[in-house]
Amino acid sequence: MQLLIMGAPGAGKGTQATKLAEKYKIPHISTGDIFRNLDERTELGQQVRRFMKSGKLIPDELTNQIVEERLQKSDCADGFILDGYPRTTAQAINLDVVLKILRQPLTQVLNIHVEPEELIERAVGRRICKNCGATYHVKFNPTKVADVCDACGGSLYQRADDNADTMKNRLSVYENSTRPLIDYYKQAGIYSEIDGRQPIDKVTADLFNVLDGLK
Ligand code: AP5
Ligand code: MG
Ligand code: ZN
Repeated sequence: MQLLIMGAPGAGKGTQATKLAEKYKIPHISTGDIFRNLDERTELGQQVRRFMKSGKLIPDELTNQIVEERLQKSDCADGFILDGYPRTTAQAINLDVVLKILRQPLTQVLNIHVEPEELIERAVGRRICKNCGATYHVKFNPTKVADVCDACGGSLYQRADDNADTMKNRLSVYENSTRPLIDYYKQAGIYSEIDGRQPIDKVTADLFNVLDGLK
């Protein structure tokens, strides 16, 4: 199963992709996570951090190359879930070419829909475990003990781009560059929309329903 999870910044892509990856035993490929994990001591790592901190997109050429290499790894042979890629029409066209060569066309595109006004609060309240990467929210998905990861006991941090100012840029980049992909995938006949304003578990249940309905 080759899945793509779409949605505006903070819509819940990462939260839900983690659950889909577990259930269907496929790797979760988040370009945001890949970029955040680049070594900050390298020139490339520094450049990428500057783009992310201001909420701008990393150039298509670099992004496409990183994803192309990742999709050729052996753990993707039975499928994968892409999170946060593609984000531009040029990336979507490139992905189609790569997946055609790999003979692994997209099975379904899942768009988590949330109204923009809710997204700033989601991002500003997000906390991530330094140790295992688990994602929480101070209000919507709090840890049992403040600032301590439920899963591993690690301490939590905030992303450099999770402030109201950068979020405004990220949301406008989404509107201009990424939202048009909805029509692109509608036309391809593989598009589903899920109401992302519901509680996390309800969104997960809706996603599972869509995918179980495909069989
Ligand atoms: P990326 O890391 O992908 O960020 P994003 O798209 O802005 O999305 P987020 O990760 O912020 O949100 P999410 O949808 O994963 O939400 P989450 O589940 O964490 O990209 C970052 C940057 O990298 C980009 O700005 C760009 O610079 C660069 N980049 C990445 N990909 C690129 C590409 N393809 N091309 C070019 N540049 C690229 O949830 C958010 C919060 O809400 C959490 O706290 C969570 O607990 C909470 N939450 C989740 N679901 C719910 C719910 N149902 N109800 C209440 N709260 C919820
Ligand atoms: Mg994410
Ligand atoms: Zn942890």
